Formats: sequence, structure tokens, C-alpha cells
Amino acid sequence: MSLRTVVCLNVITLICFLSTLLYILFPNVFTPTLDVTLTGVNKNVVQTRENIARTVSTTASKPPLSRKMKADNSAKNQINRHYTFRDFQKSVCVKRFKPAENSVYHEEKKPCPTKGIVTIVPVGRTGNQMWEYSSIWSIAKNTGLQPYLPLCLKLKLEEVFEKMQFPSLEAIADCPFNPNSAVDSSAKLSKTKQNIIIPRAKFYIDESRPYLKEIVKEFRFKREFVDYAQSTLRELKSKLPPKHYTFIGVHVRRTDYVNYLKTSYHSKPATSQYFQNAMNYFKKKFSNCIFIYVSDDPTWCFNQFGNLKDVFVPSYKTNSSAADDLALMAACNHTIFDYGTFGEWGAILAGGHAIFYNGKRNQPRRTQKFKNWIMMK
Ligand SMILES: *[C@@H]1O[C@H](CO)[C@@H](O)[C@H](O)[C@H]1NC(C)=O
Ligand SMILES: *[C@@H]1O[C@H](CO)[C@@H](O)[C@H](O)[C@H]1NC(C)=O
Repeated sequence: MSLRTVVCLNVITLICFLSTLLYILFPNVFTPTLDVTLTGVNKNVVQTRENIARTVSTTASKPPLSRKMKADNSAKNQINRHYTFRDFQKSVCVKRFKPAENSVYHEEKKPCPTKGIVTIVPVGRTGNQMWEYSSIWSIAKNTGLQPYLPLCLKLKLEEVFEKMQFPSLEAIADCPFNPNSAVDSSAKLSKTKQNIIIPRAKFYIDESRPYLKEIVKEFRFKREFVDYAQSTLRELKSKLPPKHYTFIGVHVRRTDYVNYLKTSYHSKPATSQYFQNAMNYFKKKFSNCIFIYVSDDPTWCFNQFGNLKDVFVPSYKTNSSAADDLALMAACNHTIFDYGTFGEWGAILAGGHAIFYNGKRNQPRRTQKFKNWIMMK
């Protein structure tokens, strides 16, 4: 082997090693969410940590394309491949956003849109999905564009709620979709034929606020969840002397969030003192308060507060689903929660006063503008 070959092989090995390292450190840069418009990004930029972070944030706000679509697009002398909304839907309804096995759907076909549409890249569970629906709603209202849900998002929502009003992309699946002209916000809209694709985890909360009254009406729980909430309250009341009670739903998020707060914000979860303070606030404000705890960790709740006469943890002995818990919070009069979109929606649906946790990062700062919501420690 000549010296030159050896050097050459070493360089190749080094490149492989470095790119693997980059992939491990910054998987987002390599996910199939890169948009064709990225070709405008200066390729010679030295990929320092900052630059990569910037690239990730730019790409995160771009509509995603499947690897195949991306490859097709970047091919030199590309054949004018015509994408459809089915292609888009396939690229966003991926494995980690999968509806239940038994969900089936028949969407009535609609004529192809003559204007752009509003849709979203879905991510996360019920609370996130509800903000996604609201975001589509508000952007559609504000722009006059037609709202469409990726089928996976619609199916997920309809596991919890009665039929959602907006059609899924299935209705226009065969219609042409132009990924090149899609934008990620109404501010970037320059012609009515453009589609708005709301990026993953970008919730238009301020924009949703004026429409929340209408939006909340869309979130009609399925019978089984309403039944759970009502029978739980009924059973609880039967154990108490007959009085007018004020029910306060308390959402405690523990399991996944404890780690998330630690790694992302070097922040600690809400302490039991916080929940005590919040309960005291309500006890001063209303008479005959009953606190109903729902949580991903009912055992923690029971161990902390189970000995209090006015506290109930209904899922401590009998398991409940997330939808059961949300329906129960919605049936209560007021809310205490720590953080997260699930708690936010519990509070919005209950429609009364709400207290949320003032974490290190003032986590739900975005909801400070909600009437009757206060932040506590
Ligand atoms: C509740 O769920 C947990 C975990 O899935 C299970 O271990 C436990 O047996 C269930 N309890 C009841 C009462 O169904
Ligand atoms: C409080 O919630 C209970 C249970 O849903 C309901 O029956 C009651 O009317 C509510 N009270 C007020 C003042 O809204």
C-alpha cells in the first residue's frame, strides 16, 4: 500500500467518524424534514455548534418532505415531479405519530382547492394535538384559507372527541401539492395559492385565544369519557355530606416531564409545597373546595396528599386513561396544574380560575394572558 493510499484511507475513516458523530449529536439536521428551499443556505458555512443550531431552527420551521421527495427535488435536471397532498400526509404521518390500530376512516372527497390550504406537521399527545387543531383553526380564520388535518391527527383527536369538523387531507389526497411555495406562517403569505404548513410544535396560542370559545365547543368528549367524569364526581359526592362543593381539578405531571425539565432547563419539577399553596389559594377564595388529582403518577399524589380530607385521587386504585383524566378536569369548576399542554387544556375546558407553576423558565408564560390564570410557586 502506498503512503498516499494510507493517508487517503485515514481521511475517509476520519470523515466517516466525524459524520457519525455529527449524526449522533444533531440527528435533527439529518432527519427528512429538510426543505427544498434550504438550497439557499450557504453550503460553505463552517458547521460550528451555533450554525448547526441555526440550521436546525430554520429547518424546524420548514415544511417537511419525505427523504424520497427531498432526493427527487435536489436531483439535477429534476423531472417536474408533481406531488400530491397524499405525499405530504405520508411524510408527516410517520410511525411515531400513529393512531390506534383499530381506527378506520372514510373521508368524503372534496374538489381540489383553488386557493392554498392550512395544515400542520403533527407531534405529541392529546394536549399538543389540541393546540395543533386550534392553530389550524385560527390561521384558517385569519387568512380565509381552507383548514385540513393530516389524517393521523384527525384520527388521534377522534379517539378522544366526537367527529372533528375539519376534513383530513384524505379529502384532497389526489390533488397537486406544491412543496416549493409552501410557507410556515401567515406573515409569509404572498399569494393566495400558497399553502401554510404550520411547523412541528409551533402552536399559535395568541392567535387561538380570540377563537377559544368556539374551538372549545369542538372538543366534545366521547360518551365513555363523559360517563367516566360524571360517575367519578357522583361517586365522590355520595361519600360527602350534601353541600354545594367547588371542584378543583389538579393535574400533576411527573414521569416524563421530570427528566425533560432537568435535561432541557436544569429545572426541578413542581414541589408538593406548590400544590399546597395553590390549594390554600382556592380554599380562601371558595367555600367547600374538593381537590381532584389526576396524574401520570397517581401514587405520588396519593402519598403526598392522600391523607387530606378534601383531596381525592380517583385513579389511585382504578386506572384511568388520559382522556378520562382530561374529561374529569373539564367537569371540574377550576384548575391547578404544573406545566404542559395537557394541564393547559384541562384549565381551558374547565373554564374557571387556574393556577399554574412558576418554574425556573416561567414555563407556561404564554398562557399568562389568559383571564383568571395566575402563576404561583
Ligand atoms: C393499572 O395499570 C398498571 C400499569 O399499566 C398495572 O400494573 C395495574 O395493575 C393497573 N391497576 C388496575 C387496578 O387496573
Ligand atoms: C361545578 O362543577 C360541578 C360538577 O361539574 C357542577 O355540577 C356545578 O354546577 C359547578 N358549579 C359552578 C358554580 O359552576
